[in-house]
Amino acid sequence: MNYFAYKNGVLSAEGVSLETLAREVGTPFYCYSSATLERHYKVFAAALPKDALVAFSVKANGNLGVLKTLAKLGAGADVVSGGELKKARAAGIEAGKIVFSGVGKTRAEMRLALSEGIYQFNVESEPELEALNGVALEMNRLAPVTLRINPDVDAKTHAKITTGTAETKFGIPFVHAREAYKKAASMKGIEIVGVDVHIGSQITDMEPFEAAFNRIAGLVKDLRADGHAITRLDLGGGLGVPYEHDNDPPPDPAAYGQVVARATAALGCRLIFEPGRLIAANAGVLVSEVIYVKHGDAKTFAIIDAGMNDLIRPALYDSHHEIVPVREPGVGAARINYDVVGPVCETSDLFAANRPLPALKSGDLVAILSAGAYGAVMSSAYNARPPAPEVLVAGDEWGIVRARQDHDDLIAQDSIPIWLRD
Ligand code: LLP
Repeated sequence: MNYFAYKNGVLSAEGVSLETLAREVGTPFYCYSSATLERHYKVFAAALPKDALVAFSVKANGNLGVLKTLAKLGAGADVVSGGELKKARAAGIEAGKIVFSGVGKTRAEMRLALSEGIYQFNVESEPELEALNGVALEMNRLAPVTLRINPDVDAKTHAKITTGTAETKFGIPFVHAREAYKKAASMKGIEIVGVDVHIGSQITDMEPFEAAFNRIAGLVKDLRADGHAITRLDLGGGLGVPYEHDNDPPPDPAAYGQVVARATAALGCRLIFEPGRLIAANAGVLVSEVIYVKHGDAKTFAIIDAGMNDLIRPALYDSHHEIVPVREPGVGAARINYDVVGPVCETSDLFAANRPLPALKSGDLVAILSAGAYGAVMSSAYNARPPAPEVLVAGDEWGIVRARQDHDDLIAQDSIPIWLRD
């Protein structure tokens, strides 16, 4: 459920017409809906125990406007770098609600997180544990730690976003878990607080979650028998969202909440979740203008002014995003199959192949839907194209939450070395 809908024949974000925004900020641009972010956060939180920590996964959308919207609802943050940690803090998220994930935390990032006083480190390997112990001792601190355990469960999602199988780089293998906890318990700078698991992203089947959570619940019992005080269980993120209107929607948060409850209710742990996509994906669209319609020999191309540098998901994962005209098409309007492409000089700069759409012409606006997660955050300036700016809407209000860079900004990022200067 989201708050993008046609109003008076024009696609709008809550009370704001995307046509008006295009006139005001130019195209392409991202537009996020606060009401949608809020709704997704609340529906998810309502499916979980009241004292659970919902730590929004900042990697999905790190815009300060988005983070602040969620912070005001009580969200925490799941961060994977010092930069994300700083952004979460800058958006007003309390350090005590921040968890730090990732396989390659540097010592500098550990120092930063310890000095901020974050809620926990989700440690992914024994070398990382040793490094964190060293940093904590140097700082005379105790680092609160969960170990991320790789349960070797296939999440049945895209290979590039599967993280819970033995072949991936993530977590400590399930079979080494008890040994790793024993080692952690012997370290003076480490305080074991719980167990962490995250098996992948865009998961649309409850069965892998159930298998992973049951495995981890069994481990919690073993760890307690070994004498460890396990009081927290971080179950990661990963719940999928509907990208294709014609497909069955993925299970809703309530179904997920039931799976969680079945596996964990008896443990008495505080639960932590790290949803990203579920909160942000359908709270954002990428609006773009058709530059040309080109009739090729085999295909008709709608060439739009957003490119793979703005939204890389289709090129990287062959992912499907619905594309709709901003002007509402008439009922029963004829459809033409378009390849919707960007201006970037690569064949992979393709948003949709053979997509039936109402007839498009130069100057028309289109919206690429479900672009609020892993959209702007993954953008680049490839082809020296400044990435699309971001706009946040709340009711009838809107604000630019990341401005468009101009070409001079891009040029100013580089410098000419001394021997090449005129
Ligand atoms: N926690 C950890 C440790 C993660 O690695 C991730 C995502 C999340 C939470 C949030 O997962 P979510 O709830 O958003 O599924 N760029 C890809 C997705 C990469 C996901 C990486 N990890 C995409 O565009 O599909």
